[in-house]
Amino acid sequence: MTTDTIITARGLTKTFTVRKAVVEAVTDLDLDVQRGELVAFLGPNGAGKSTSLRMLTTLLPPTSGTATVVGHDIARDPAGVRRRIGYIGQGTSAGHNQRVRDELLSQGAFYGMGRRAAATRADELLESLDLAPLATRKVLGLSGGQKRRLDIALGLIHSPELLFLDEPSTGLDPQSRANLWQHILDLRREHGTTIFVTTHFLEEADLFAERVLVMDHGRMIADDTAGNLKTTLAGDVITLGFASEADARAAAARAGGTAAGSSLSLTVDHGELVLPRLLRELDSVTSATLRQPTLDDVFLALTGRSLREDAATSKEEINA
Ligand SMILES: Nc1ncnc2c1ncn2[C@@H]1O[C@H](COP(=O)(O)OP(=O)(O)OP(=O)(O)O)[C@@H](O)[C@H]1O
Ligand SMILES: [Mg+2]
Repeated sequence: MTTDTIITARGLTKTFTVRKAVVEAVTDLDLDVQRGELVAFLGPNGAGKSTSLRMLTTLLPPTSGTATVVGHDIARDPAGVRRRIGYIGQGTSAGHNQRVRDELLSQGAFYGMGRRAAATRADELLESLDLAPLATRKVLGLSGGQKRRLDIALGLIHSPELLFLDEPSTGLDPQSRANLWQHILDLRREHGTTIFVTTHFLEEADLFAERVLVMDHGRMIADDTAGNLKTTLAGDVITLGFASEADARAAAARAGGTAAGSSLSLTVDHGELVLPRLLRELDSVTSATLRQPTLDDVFLALTGRSLREDAATSKEEINA
């Protein structure tokens, strides 16, 4: 651990007992996050992301293991941790009958800020999160994207060094998601805030995070930059088209890969070198594409499942 380490966790474990059955929500989580990092935490539904965040933010006592967050031990000094962090939970949109600016002032008072300091900070945040024109509107009447931005302002009112965000962009349209991320990145640039964020949107993690953690079944299964994960864990995807299904199957027999209809997909290292060779060897190819791996390919390689399918399933469940 260096002086610049803002989160250290060792063997953090949480089990729940539900009707005599033991649920191992998080098992043996080891984690070091450096000051100023933007870390994305990925994993399918039920992987243990929120439980990890709730332990690190002192909302949930671990079954075993230890963690130090912004210099304070989560078990011995939870109040010390809470004073220095911001936490925006999953789907906790403020739904109060209060006005936007008053909501921020109440939150400041909750953190023990003086009224003047809270007002100054509230106005700063309203400005930087594009909420100033809504300052006197009732929270209840805000749109989803506006509420999520207010959530972020609420989490930042006491100027925390470290901000935990649990799926900040779920439920927002693409435009609002992009807008929200712009605000997150601006805040980070202006204040150097360390950001630890869970998301189901792999593109977000890929674009914005310099480090990606992947959790599955309560265990951390990957921890690296998105670029490294993609180059070391998932190969390039080559898709070849053929005139007929029989041609595609014959090509699969020679070159490997998976034939589907009249096309053949292969996952390979260095697709740019493999593709010309395949085109020389297979004479019946009618079309060819080479695709760089995505984080979803990484997830598929790690777990045998697609995170995208997972997200789609959970959405259907919600809609059902
Ligand atoms: N209070 C609780 N009581 C019992 N089981 C729980 C509780 N909270 C979480 N769990 C279980 O722990 C596991 C991890 O849940 P968690 O909410 O941490 O997952 P997640 O990765 O945040 O999922 P999602 O992507 O759906 O938000 C799941 O099996 C969940 O059912
Ligand atoms: Mg969750």
